[in-house]
Amino acid sequence: MQSTFALLLLVASTLAAPAASDCTGTISSMGDVDAAVKCTTVNINSFTVPAGQGLTLNLLDATTVNLNGDLKFGNVSWAGPLFTVSGKSITFNGNGHTLDGGGPFYWDGLGGNGGVVKPAPMIKIKISGTYKNVRVLNSPARVYSVSNPAPLTMTGLTIDNSFGDLPNSKSGGIAAGHNTDGFDASTHDLTISNSVIMNQDDCLAINKGTNIAFTGNTCSGGHGISVGSIDSDATVNNITISNNKIINNDQALRIKTKSAATGSTVSGITYSGNTGTGIKKFGVIIDQSYPDTLGTPGTGVKLSGVNFIGTTNTISVVSGAKRVAVNCGSGSCTGSWNWASLKVTGGSAGPITNFNGITGFTQ
Ligand SMILES: *[C@@H]1O[C@H](CO)[C@@H](O)[C@H](O)[C@H]1NC(C)=O
Ligand SMILES: *[C@@H]1O[C@H](CO)[C@@H](O)[C@H](O)[C@H]1NC(C)=O
Repeated sequence: MQSTFALLLLVASTLAAPAASDCTGTISSMGDVDAAVKCTTVNINSFTVPAGQGLTLNLLDATTVNLNGDLKFGNVSWAGPLFTVSGKSITFNGNGHTLDGGGPFYWDGLGGNGGVVKPAPMIKIKISGTYKNVRVLNSPARVYSVSNPAPLTMTGLTIDNSFGDLPNSKSGGIAAGHNTDGFDASTHDLTISNSVIMNQDDCLAINKGTNIAFTGNTCSGGHGISVGSIDSDATVNNITISNNKIINNDQALRIKTKSAATGSTVSGITYSGNTGTGIKKFGVIIDQSYPDTLGTPGTGVKLSGVNFIGTTNTISVVSGAKRVAVNCGSGSCTGSWNWASLKVTGGSAGPITNFNGITGFTQ
C-alpha cells in the first residue's frame, strides 16, 4: 500500500516536471535555428536568409511555430529549396506574414526549362498537422512541394506571383514568371483549403496520391487544377476538388496522363461546386497524350470514376476555347462517369475520343 502510494507520487511528480523541450525558441537569424528547434514553441522574427542557403526547420513533434515577421531570401542562382519544414503534429501559424522568394531576380520566361537555375520548389512542406495564413510573394519557380507524413491541412494561404504575368527584360515579351506551380502534391491525406493562388502554371498538380481534398480555393491566371501529369506506376485515388473559383486560367479542370506511362491507376476523382470564368483553352480536359495536347493517347494509365456530382460545376470558356475534351487511350477509360453536375458554356465542343461512358452530360 505504502509503496503504491510512493509510486503514485513519483509518477505525479514526473508528469508535473516540465520537459526540457517545453520552452520557446526564437529565430532572428540562421545562427538561432539549431537551439530554437529544441523547443516546442518556435517564434520566427523578420530576417533575410543569406543567399544560397535554405532555412530548414526539423521540428520536434507537436511544435507550434509562429511567424512574427516577413522573411526574405538572398538572391543567387541555385537549386533551393529556400524553406523546408518537417515534423509531426505541427501547428504552423504564418499570421499573414510573407515569404518573399525574390522572383523578379530569377524570372526569364523559362522557369525550369532553361535560363538561370532557380530555387525549386521554393518551399518543402514535410509536416503533419496544420500550416496556415502564410503569404508567398514572387516565387522563383514552383512554390510548394508537399509530402506530409500524416494528415495535413494547409489553409488560408496566399501565393501572389501576379507580377510574373508581366514580361521583363529577359523574357522576350512573354510572361516573366514560368513553371510557378502553386502546389505539387505526391502524397496522401492532404487538405488544401481557402487559399488564393495567382501564378503562371498549375494551381494544384497531383502527381500521385490518395485522400486529397482541394476546396474553397481561388486560382487566378495559371493552368488550372490538375490531376497529373501521371507517370508510370502511380496510384491516384479519392481526390475531391470542390468549391474552387478558377479565373482566367488556360483550363479549369484537367487530368493529364503521360502517353508513355505504364502500370498506373487513376480513380475516384470527384468535382463539385467549382466555377470557372474566362477559361482560355479548355473548360474540362482529360487527356492521355501528355506531353502532347490531344495527341496520340497512351493506354498504360487506367482511368475510372471521374464524376461531377453534388453542387453544379459551372464553367464558362472564352470564344475560341473548347468546352470539354476527353482523349482516352483505347480501352483505358472504363466504367460509367456521372457528369450530371457539369455545365460548360461558351466556345465550342471539344472531341471525346475512345470513351462513351459519360452520363448526364452533353456538350
Ligand atoms: C531579390 O530581388 C528581388 C527582385 O529585384 C527583390 O524584390 C528582392 O527584395 C531581392 N531580395 C533580397 C533579399 O534583396
Ligand atoms: C477520402 O479522402 C477524404 C479526405 O479528402 C477522407 O476524409 C476520406 O475518409 C477518404 N475516403 C476513403 C474511403 O478513404
